[in-house]
Amino acid sequence: MIETLRKRFTEYFNEEPIICRAPGRVNIIGEHTDYNDGLVLPFPIEKAIYFAASKRQDQEIHIHALDLGEETVIDLNNPTSDLQWTRFFMGALRVLREDQHSICGFNVMINGDIPFGAGISSSSALTCGFLFTIKHLFDLNYSKRDIVFMASRAENGTGVNGGKMDQFAICMGEENKAILLDCRDYSYQLIDSEVKGAKWCLFNTNVEHNLAETEYNDRRADCESALTAIQERNPEIHSLRDLNEEKLNDFIDLISKTEFDRLTHVINENNRVLAMVKALTETNLHMAGELLFESHQSLSELYEVSCEELDFIVENLKKREDCIGARMMGGGFGGSVIALLKDHAEDFEDLESRYLDSFNLQMDIIPVRSKNGISILT
Ligand code: GLA
Repeated sequence: MIETLRKRFTEYFNEEPIICRAPGRVNIIGEHTDYNDGLVLPFPIEKAIYFAASKRQDQEIHIHALDLGEETVIDLNNPTSDLQWTRFFMGALRVLREDQHSICGFNVMINGDIPFGAGISSSSALTCGFLFTIKHLFDLNYSKRDIVFMASRAENGTGVNGGKMDQFAICMGEENKAILLDCRDYSYQLIDSEVKGAKWCLFNTNVEHNLAETEYNDRRADCESALTAIQERNPEIHSLRDLNEEKLNDFIDLISKTEFDRLTHVINENNRVLAMVKALTETNLHMAGELLFESHQSLSELYEVSCEELDFIVENLKKREDCIGARMMGGGFGGSVIALLKDHAEDFEDLESRYLDSFNLQMDIIPVRSKNGISILT
């Protein structure tokens, strides 16, 4: 794929490009916690988006999206675009302007193998990759860590009002490691992601519900409104991270039953992240599996971000001897299930065909392991 990209770029622009790789990410556990100052445990994967780029002498950005078979030109003197797929780039250009990084025109050609809608963060890979490519083309003085925050600002307002887990995993990840990230202060620790006797695998539902963005933003709003009510009584609670189940009971009269359920999920999910780190460190597969199933149940019943297709896959995996644990991953309402499978697990034909019969949809199985975060390939 990289060689094809290089070749196409050279043929088209008649120049040697720099090539940037921006991976997708998975998350072992810690869902809907990042925007609540909570804990997450993601890692970058092999599937990635690649950017080939070279500088131009004018003020134009020529973008070729090979997978889409589309191209466009953005004029830096008057940057506008009504193409849906350029919205992350437009966001990134706005952030560069706001931060007073000056650039001139460039050519960029993009391809990749991250399936869109699988919940492995193709949008953040696009935004982070674009910013990293520009940094290298123009020798700009922002770091990978800065890109986490720049990309998050760039993506804001484009749909999902997300946290910073995805950008952090994509920019800061390292091969064979998962990132135990504390979204209160963005401190982190690297944990071994490889588990002896087991392997990580995604089951892509190939479902992307229309309501995903609105529902996601609604869940975030539920957490924020509950927090505001709680803070009126106790201003020392800065975020949901300052709560535990016992403390939450002190505020039960201030919040709705739905808000109570949402907060219960967030509080317990943070605890599950720490318990998962312990389980993985001690190679306690039984505990790791229990935590994944518990997380799924909580996301489905308390946070209400699952869907029939995700529940179907998790319920069916649960019945298999070779599945240690599984749960829905990412924002929800479609996307993928992440599962921890025993090393010998194979043959999911029966599950695939029953999934097809039930939903008239193909299910994709994607083995994953931790790879490097964003990089320039030489
Ligand atoms: C999406 C968002 C992330 C995170 C997850 C849920 O992937 O982009 O920031 O909130 O959902 O954990």
